[in-house]
Amino acid sequence: MAQKLALLYEGKAKKIYRTADPGLYLVEFKDDATAFDGAKKGTIRDKGVLNNLISEKFFRLLEEHGVPTHFVEKVNEREMLVRPLDIIKVEVVVRNIVAGSLAKRLGMPEGTPLSRPVLEYYYKSDELGDPMINDFHIQSLELATPDQMETIREIAFKVNNVLLDYLAERDIDLVDFKLEFGVCRDQIMLGDEISPDTCRLWDRKTGERMDKDRFRRDLGHVEEAYAEVYRRLAGD
Ligand code: TMP
Ligand code: ASP
Repeated sequence: MAQKLALLYEGKAKKIYRTADPGLYLVEFKDDATAFDGAKKGTIRDKGVLNNLISEKFFRLLEEHGVPTHFVEKVNEREMLVRPLDIIKVEVVVRNIVAGSLAKRLGMPEGTPLSRPVLEYYYKSDELGDPMINDFHIQSLELATPDQMETIREIAFKVNNVLLDYLAERDIDLVDFKLEFGVCRDQIMLGDEISPDTCRLWDRKTGERMDKDRFRRDLGHVEEAYAEVYRRLAGD
C-alpha cells in the first residue's frame, strides 16, 4: 500500500498527498462544499465517501471505453491513488441541456434540450473565478497546444457519450459536467473527479436535482441525493 507523505495541495473538496512512489499521488475526498467561488461554505455529510465511490465507478467505466484517466485504485473510504499529472489550466464543460450559467447567459429556461452538445472552456484560476475563454485565448496564452486541444475535445465528447448512455439506463439525465485534464508522460489524461459536485444530474422521471445544485440553491436533502446517485450506479 502506498504510504501517505507530504500534503501537496489542499483544494475546496480534496487534498492531494505525495506517496513514497513518485508515480502515485493520493487524493483524499473531503465533506467540505463551497459554491460561488467559495462565498458559500458548508459540509455535506459523507460527500467525500460518496464522491470517492462515484468517481471510481465513472473512471473505471471510462477506462473500459478506452478513455485514459489518472485513476489507479481506490484505497479506502475517502482516498484513491492517481497518476501525477501536469495540469492543463483549462476547465472543460460539456452541456446537453440548458442549465446554470448557460441559462443565465442566454436567457433560456433551464431544461431546454440543446440540439447538439455544447463545449465551453474556462480558465482555471480561483483568483479570477474561472472566467470563460475560447480556443484563441488558449492558444494565445499557451495553456495547451492545438494538438492537445484536439485530443481534449475528442475525449470530452467520448466521455459525454459514455456517461449519457450509462446514466440514462439508470434513469438519470446528464445535463452538464466539468472535466479537467493533465499530461502524464506526454499523454493527455482525464484528472480531478467526476461526481455530483462536478455534474448536473436530473432524475429522468421527476426532474428532481441529484447534484450539488441542491447545496448551491438550498434545496435540501443534499446527502440523500448523492447517496441515491451512488445507489443507482451500484445497482449493477
Ligand atoms: P455552470 O452552469 O455553473 O457553468 O456549471 C456547468 C457545470 O460545471 C455543472 O455541471 C457544474 C460544473 N462546475 C464545476 O464542476 N465547478 C465549478 O466551479 C462550476 C462553476 C461548475
Ligand atoms: N466549486 C466552486 C466554488 O467553490 C463553484 C461551484 O461548484 O459552484 O465556488
